[in-house]
Amino acid sequence: MARKAGVLISPSILSADFTCLGEEIKAVQDSGADWLHVDVMDGAFVPNITIGPLVVSAARRVADIPLDVHLMINNADIFLEDFQQAGANILAVHPEACPHLHRTLTRIRELGMKAGAALNPSTPLCCVENVLGELDVLMLMTVNPGFGGQSFIRTMLPKVRAARKMIDSSGFDILLEIDGGVSPKTAPYLLNEGADVFVAGSAVFGAPPYGDAIRALRGH
Ligand code: DX5
Ligand code: ZN
Repeated sequence: MARKAGVLISPSILSADFTCLGEEIKAVQDSGADWLHVDVMDGAFVPNITIGPLVVSAARRVADIPLDVHLMINNADIFLEDFQQAGANILAVHPEACPHLHRTLTRIRELGMKAGAALNPSTPLCCVENVLGELDVLMLMTVNPGFGGQSFIRTMLPKVRAARKMIDSSGFDILLEIDGGVSPKTAPYLLNEGADVFVAGSAVFGAPPYGDAIRALRGH
């Protein structure tokens, strides 16, 4: 996916008020969000349970911006079509839960979505180096996935730098997305390392007004 000038902001609805999710989605969209991040958790791959295709399709009905769906689930392969039907635009899987990553990424693209791979903090970059041609988005986790509002793991900064280098030298159009603990404090370091997309849950939904929160992440 082609890089734009400036970082893209993908607010995570995990930190939204679910009693009025539609209003929350419209509010971040009107406040300048570029994508909407949807965290799908199964209580097995990660120690939390969140939402599934039903909520993605509800979000689709109110959102005009791309739905950036992050699958933190085992057996992702059997759900790819469900999330496509629900309206996902970008679908990211975890290689730790997808033994046939090349097949999974290829299938995501065949279904007309952008293919993403999300790497846990402890997962090395080399696990995607042979599938860069099938990737549209490389998502680096800067917290251990499962919950919003966790502290940024600072020791991930060299990994972000190495990912930028790997993408640039590959020649493929891959966006580098950072997920976990992104805030106005950590964002400048990540921008400096070449991040293209920021996921932010608590730093947007927990820091109204949303327009100011999003601008603070962009650095202006
Ligand atoms: C964590 C999720 C994140 C989370 C980010 O497992 O993948 O997307 O919502 O939340 P913050 O920005 O609060 O760290
Ligand atoms: Zn996420």
